[in-house]
Amino acid sequence: MQEKIIILDFGSQTTQLIGRRVRELNTYCEILPYNKFPYDDPGVIGVILSGSPFSVYDEKAFKTDLSKLIGRYPVLGICYGAQLLSYDGGGSVEPAPSREYGRALLAHSDTSNPLLHGIEVGSQVWMSHGDTITSLPTGYDIIASTDEVACAAFAARDNKVWGVQFHPEVFHSSCGTQLLQNFVEGICGSHCSWSAESFIETTVAALRQQLGDDKVVLGLSGGVDSSVAAVLLNKAIGKNLTCIFVDHGMLRKNEFANVMADYEGLGLNVVGVDASDKFFAELAGVTEPERKRKIIGKGFIDVFDAEAHKIKDVKWLAQGTIYPDCIESLSITGTTIKSHHNVGGLPQKMNLKLCEPLRLLFKDEVRAVGRALGMPEHLIKRHPFPGPGLAVRILGDITREKVRILQDADDIFISGLRQWGLYDQVWQAGVILLPVQSVGVMGDERTYERAVALRAVTSTDAMTADWAHLPYDFMAKVSNDIINQVRGVNRVCYDISSKPPATIEWE
Ligand code: XMP
Repeated sequence: MQEKIIILDFGSQTTQLIGRRVRELNTYCEILPYNKFPYDDPGVIGVILSGSPFSVYDEKAFKTDLSKLIGRYPVLGICYGAQLLSYDGGGSVEPAPSREYGRALLAHSDTSNPLLHGIEVGSQVWMSHGDTITSLPTGYDIIASTDEVACAAFAARDNKVWGVQFHPEVFHSSCGTQLLQNFVEGICGSHCSWSAESFIETTVAALRQQLGDDKVVLGLSGGVDSSVAAVLLNKAIGKNLTCIFVDHGMLRKNEFANVMADYEGLGLNVVGVDASDKFFAELAGVTEPERKRKIIGKGFIDVFDAEAHKIKDVKWLAQGTIYPDCIESLSITGTTIKSHHNVGGLPQKMNLKLCEPLRLLFKDEVRAVGRALGMPEHLIKRHPFPGPGLAVRILGDITREKVRILQDADDIFISGLRQWGLYDQVWQAGVILLPVQSVGVMGDERTYERAVALRAVTSTDAMTADWAHLPYDFMAKVSNDIINQVRGVNRVCYDISSKPPATIEWE
C-alpha cells in the first residue's frame, strides 16, 4: 500500500510548492481540493491544510469538516490552514493591524515540540498574510513567535494538530525543510521510500497488470515528458508500444533526424512521419496566430490518427501528462473547481482508453525518472518547445525559406548557449523571425534584409518568466555569427520583456 500525505488545497498559490517539498522528502503526497478528502484511503498518514486567498471569516471561505480529520490523522495547517484550525476550534482570527509580508525571524521557538526540533530562535521564516490568530482554542499552545506575530506556530496538547502562520514551503523560510521533515517523517512516520527507482518499479508492474497484451500508441514530441513516458512504457510492455513522431516541418534544425536517432538508441519502436508538405500547404498565406495554431493542431491529430490506424488492434492511447496538468486547482474568484485538462484533442477523437503513467509526477521528478531509466542527459534537460514549433516564432505567413532562415539562426543561438555553459541556466530560448526588413551595410553593399529577435527566459513553471540576463560578450558573438552566417538576416535584437505582461512565445 502506498503511504501518502494528503494536502488539502484551499486555493493558495503555493499549494503545489508544498507538494513538491513533501516529495523532495521522498514521501508520496497528493494535492486534492479542500472538500475531496479520501476518507476510504488506508494509505493516508497525515494531512496538510494549505493557505488560501480568503479570510476564514469570509462568507465565501472554503471550509471542510475538520472534526473528521482531527484525532484520526496528524494535521498541519499552513497560514489559512492554521487560522482555520484555530477559528474552527473556538479561537479567534482577526485582520492584522498591518499586513505581514516577507521575512521575519523567530524570537521564540519551543524546540522540544516535535514540529520544531532543530528550529532555533533566529531562524528565518516567510510571512504572507493579512489576518492573524489572536486567541487559540482551549488546549492549544503557542510554540513559536516572531517580534510581530505572537502566534507564529501552535500545537494542540492532546491531539496531533499543529499550525504555522508562516510558509515553510517557500525557499525563503530557511527552516522550512526541517519543519516539513519534522512533520512528515517525525510526526506522521513516513518511511521516506518514494524515489524515482521505487516509482519505476511499481509503475512498470502496474502497467503490465493494466495493459496485459494490449497494443498501445503514443505520440512523441521530442520533449521530456512524452520521451520519459515512452521509455517507461517500453520497459513495461516492449514491442506492444508503438510511438509516432510527426514532423510538421517546423522543428528545429536537424531535430527530426537527431531525435529519431535518440529514440532508436533507446530501443523504442518508433515510426517517424514526414508530413511537412501537408502542413506547409495548409499554412500557405495564413498570418493570424490562432489560425496557424488551429491548422497545426488539427493537422497533427489527423496525421497521428491515420498512422495509429495502421497498427492492428490498438486499445490504448498513452500520453506524457504530468501532475501539474492534472491537479484540480481552485479558482481564486469563487467556488468553481476547474476540471483537469489534457493538451491536444487526441483522446476525444480516437476513442481509445487513456494511459498516463506520469500523471502523478512533477517535472523535476519526470527528469529524475528519465535519469534512473538511463536516458541521455541532453534529452532530459531539453528546453520546452511549443507543439506548433517554429510556426509560432515566424510572425506573418510561413514559407520553407523562412523556416530555413529561422532554423539556422536558432541553431547558432542554441549551440552558443551550450558552448558557453549557459544552456542549463535558462528555462527556454529561441529566435523569432520578425516581419520587418531593415537597411544595413555589408562590405560596400547596401542590404535590405530581415531582423530576428533572440528570446531567452528564466522561469520555474512557464507561468511567469523573466528575460535571462545573458553576458554581453555572448550576445555580441551570437549576433555576429547570425548576421555573418545566416543569409537573409542583417539585424539581431534581444527581447527584454518579462511574463506577464508579455508571454514567452511571440504568438
Ligand atoms: P507562453 O507563450 O504562453 O508559453 O508564455 C508558455 C510555455 O508553453 C509553451 N507553449 C506551448 N507548448 N503547445 C505546447 O506544447 C503549444 O501550443 C504551446 N504554446 C506555448 C511555450 O514554449 C512556453 O514553454
